[in-house]
Amino acid sequence: MSQQNREQWGTRTGFLLAAIGSAIGLGNIWRFPYVAYDNGGGAFLIPYLVALLTAGIPMLILEYAIGHRFRASPPAAFRRLSRPAEALGWWQVGICFVISVYYAVIVAWAIRYAGFSITQAWGEDTEAFLFGDFLQVAEAPGAIGGYNAGVAVPLIAVWAVVLVVLALGVRRGIEWANRIFIPLLTVLFLILVVQSLFLDGALAGLNAFFEPDWSAITDGSVWVAAYGQIFFSLSVGFGIMITYASYLRRKSDLTGSALVAGFANSSFELLAGIGVFATLGFMAAAAGVPISEVATDGLGLAFVAFPQIINNIPFAPGLFGLLFFVSLVIAGLTSLVSIVEVVISSVRDRTGLGRMPAVLIVGGLIAVVSIVVFPTDQGLYLLDAADHFINQYGIALAGLVIVVVVAWALRRLPMLRQHAESTSTVPLRVWWAIALGVITPVVLGWMMWDSLQAEFAQNYEDYPTWFLNSAGWGVAIGVIVIAVLVSLIPWKRRAGDADDSNVTVAAVDDSGKGQ
Ligand code: ALA
Repeated sequence: MSQQNREQWGTRTGFLLAAIGSAIGLGNIWRFPYVAYDNGGGAFLIPYLVALLTAGIPMLILEYAIGHRFRASPPAAFRRLSRPAEALGWWQVGICFVISVYYAVIVAWAIRYAGFSITQAWGEDTEAFLFGDFLQVAEAPGAIGGYNAGVAVPLIAVWAVVLVVLALGVRRGIEWANRIFIPLLTVLFLILVVQSLFLDGALAGLNAFFEPDWSAITDGSVWVAAYGQIFFSLSVGFGIMITYASYLRRKSDLTGSALVAGFANSSFELLAGIGVFATLGFMAAAAGVPISEVATDGLGLAFVAFPQIINNIPFAPGLFGLLFFVSLVIAGLTSLVSIVEVVISSVRDRTGLGRMPAVLIVGGLIAVVSIVVFPTDQGLYLLDAADHFINQYGIALAGLVIVVVVAWALRRLPMLRQHAESTSTVPLRVWWAIALGVITPVVLGWMMWDSLQAEFAQNYEDYPTWFLNSAGWGVAIGVIVIAVLVSLIPWKRRAGDADDSNVTVAAVDDSGKGQ
């Protein structure tokens, strides 16, 4: 894909909806409410807001500026920034590959659960239903012993939708999908939240959620949690925003868009917090236990606690369940599309493949890996290990290395700031450079140190070491090794690649030097 023929968004709203659709995902609905509750409740909102302003939005602007300046997906964009930095882009591509293979599986479960919720087919023991009847998980990590068609069928449907959207292209596919899905998600979720507020015990749930524990503000781990949540939730560090910004027109308001996307994502997150805690308040009241006993996150919240709550809802339980799981499906699908697009776009920039063949070959490969590996009886263990390690030592570590390389090794922040300001409404001033050059690396470095210590003190989830070495560390480190190797393969220069007079760095680099 030469820079001249690069696909473009139809409108700024289309781009914004796609960026918001990428950010709002499973993380907003099942991760934020619990992280906030567990880290000081109402008081958590202060570190959370500081993290949004000092790291989240500055990182978004950095990714927008890199993608827009060099008009390319991560590997080509970083290569144009500096030849050896290309490996950083492939690292992000590898991270997106790994995340997409398991993220799709969770969306597939949510599709099945939307169906189950109509008749509450999960019965009374929702935990036994999830791990036994539905997922048929093996006793322990080991050799693959069974394949589950009940997961495979919706998974194939998820991949069919994602690949069709991607095959239709940036404007007719990704932009249109988000134009339909994001307003729909907002309406469905609003109905769900309003319904939850009418449940008995909702107020107690909201009190538990918002009651500030001010002592949490002085606890370092609360700040680490706030920064971690912001990175995951805003989709920074994946290379998605570099890719999406590469499809923007020359005159695009980068800083204004980052502010809108950042605040839209956080507003949705808050709404999810209100809905989830009002519902947990109902469950605690019904069971006569404190909120702390029912509050949980991740799979436990969505696929064990929520079904249990739905069983007890006095009016229209099927509708409540449907709204919740359909919201999860939509939020997941729009994020999944953006994650896979990073891989497709990068391979296209590198090989010159057309969109359709790239979607069929690359998207098809990702879909096959996902469909072959995850509906097995080992699927849940593999998903859990890959998710933990690729988040910690993929997204967060790549984010840290990128800010250090761009700010300190290459010293390109002034150039990128000038670029962002030249087309934008909101000036960046010096806070942007301080946030990215100092605050973000210090906090991410500290996060990394903290989580590595925990990793070596005890095996994650007490899984066997051989399993973590292959499905956890093996995947995270394997992605880095492959990224470096791919970046060493010389590029063949194609006509039209370096013909953009504005991209002076690209012109110098793509002239054949250093190959
Ligand atoms: N930002 C996406 C989420 O929250 C990845 O799930």
